[in-house]
Amino acid sequence: LGNGPLRGRRVLVTSGPTHEPIDPVRYIANRSSGAQGTAIAGALAALGAQVIFVTGPSTVPPPDGVTVIRVETAQEMLAAVEQALPVEAAICAAAVADWRVTSASESKIKKTKSGLPVLEFAENPDILATLSQRAESRPRLVVGFAAETDDVIDNATAKRVRKGCDWIVANDVRPSTGIMGGTENAVTLITADGAEEWPRMGKHQVAELLAARIATVLT
Ligand code: C5P
Repeated sequence: LGNGPLRGRRVLVTSGPTHEPIDPVRYIANRSSGAQGTAIAGALAALGAQVIFVTGPSTVPPPDGVTVIRVETAQEMLAAVEQALPVEAAICAAAVADWRVTSASESKIKKTKSGLPVLEFAENPDILATLSQRAESRPRLVVGFAAETDDVIDNATAKRVRKGCDWIVANDVRPSTGIMGGTENAVTLITADGAEEWPRMGKHQVAELLAARIATVLT
């Protein structure tokens, strides 16, 4: 570590799911394992980058040689990301919950005979869009992910423009692909120049190719 084309470059990676509390013992989560984000952080560190790894609750151990910042909710993740600025590149691989429960209960919600609880939701901040659209200290390169089940390239291309990021790494997460929670990934890299389909390969290999590509932009 510490050597390579990204030596000394400060980069940020978000990874994992977020947990949005309902009460002190319950939360809303998603199926993200954090495997791809962890692999990307490791690959960037292997190229010498100084990696700030902001991760939601994940059972995948963080890579060696990165600064780990553990968060639980989307709001905590955004605060940690803003705290980490300035960075030269930000790779937003986290599966951030779109919604949080408004006024999570301070005490455990009890079963009652008088009826079922009703949860109210509020929209979470979009960390990728917030970073991409910053007026000050916007990273030179902002990379987002798009997990899609239909019209992968069209949806991801529109997402790149809507969020204002530079690249989108799009993947097909239909259950039949086995990608979500699996060890392999088949991605299409969307840039301003168009869509580049990569063959199906291990998540670590995707991470290495992506890190190498990031190095070509930052150096
Ligand atoms: O809109 P969608 O959730 O499909 O966008 C996915 C991309 O946006 C991912 O890069 C994810 O990390 C990022 N994102 C985010 N904050 C959110 C929602 C998504 O950073 N609240």
